[in-house]
Amino acid sequence: MRRAAITGVGYYLPEDRMTNAELETLVDTSNEWIISRTGIHERRILRDPEKATSYMATRAARNLLEKKNISPDEIDLIIVGTVTPDMVFPATACLVQAELGATNAWGFDLSAACSGFLYALSTGAQFITSGTYKKVLVIGADKMSAIIDYTDRTTCILFGDGAGAVLLEPDDSGVGIVDSLLQMDGTKPDLLCMLAGGSRRPASHETVDARQHYVYQEGRSVFKYAVKGMADAAASVMERNGLTGDDVAYLVPHQANLRIIDATANRMEIDTDKVMLNISRYGNTTAATIPLCLSDWEHKLRTGDNLILAAFGGGFTWGATYVKWAYDGSQYEIPEHLRSEMAHS
Ligand code: UT7
Repeated sequence: MRRAAITGVGYYLPEDRMTNAELETLVDTSNEWIISRTGIHERRILRDPEKATSYMATRAARNLLEKKNISPDEIDLIIVGTVTPDMVFPATACLVQAELGATNAWGFDLSAACSGFLYALSTGAQFITSGTYKKVLVIGADKMSAIIDYTDRTTCILFGDGAGAVLLEPDDSGVGIVDSLLQMDGTKPDLLCMLAGGSRRPASHETVDARQHYVYQEGRSVFKYAVKGMADAAASVMERNGLTGDDVAYLVPHQANLRIIDATANRMEIDTDKVMLNISRYGNTTAATIPLCLSDWEHKLRTGDNLILAAFGGGFTWGATYVKWAYDGSQYEIPEHLRSEMAHS
């Protein structure tokens, strides 16, 4: 049986860090509050105003292709999960295709907020299992700092910038994407959204004055839906594939809030040492959180490891995906930024 296997991962993180101490100078908050309510210590920020999401997405893809020694012209399809495209159009995928030199690829952007990577992964996998394509790049990338209101303490402490990429290729040895449960409830778009800048409320002096070009979130409500959505989806996927917590090598959760992740892990009866966590370093990078986790943990992953990926985001969109890992990650070194992280600590 042909499956779509993740055969490589890559990442890009901006060098500049935004610490909780810096946020204390911008809004009425504290390091203690941020850590205890979210688990976040710092985020990476792409401060150069000339650089946008495609810059990070291209570098994540290039990192992957260089590691795998694959030429960009071998790529058939590029899907970019993002809510911070460089422009409304053309798609960020077009800009990535050009900068990467993926001359034989077509592609598109996929908008599902924090579930963008899971939605894109599932979409890309269809082109592999159908036999249509051999190499599909799935990228999650967001420059959240471009749409964050750094006077709003309830949102600005949460988000960071980054990009992660995976390569999907066909495999018939039993590894790959086994199952996916993706869900949506569009009845509450106002709880987590960016009000203006679309066709409903195009940019105007009024929308700018009303600060409607920024992320708006009713945190407490979203929190409740996120805990239930992520935990339910992960538990369903485990149950219908006959998996218990012991069978799972790693939970790979969207990194929105440490407390949401803990609740999901509890529900799955998974020990904390089997939960991929990097929220303390990067905050919520929206579509990039899951591929950034895979990148950070790649060197620890082994062929046949059972991973449960789970996400929840604006829309609402949410879901969980069961992946049987396809290769021995020990052939790859610990990413450069993690080595320097260890040196710092
Ligand atoms: O990734 C997409 C999905 N998004 C999420 O999953 C995010 C879900 N929501 C959350 O993670 C949490 O709701 C937040 C981290 C956004 C907020 O945490 P919370 O524990 O739900 O806090 P809260 O909104 O209930 O606020 C508690 C108090 C409030 O003060 P009062 O009304 O009790 O006096 C807030 O005004 O904390 C206050 N507060 C802050 N205090 C210091 C809110 N933000 C801050 C802040 N610093 N940055």
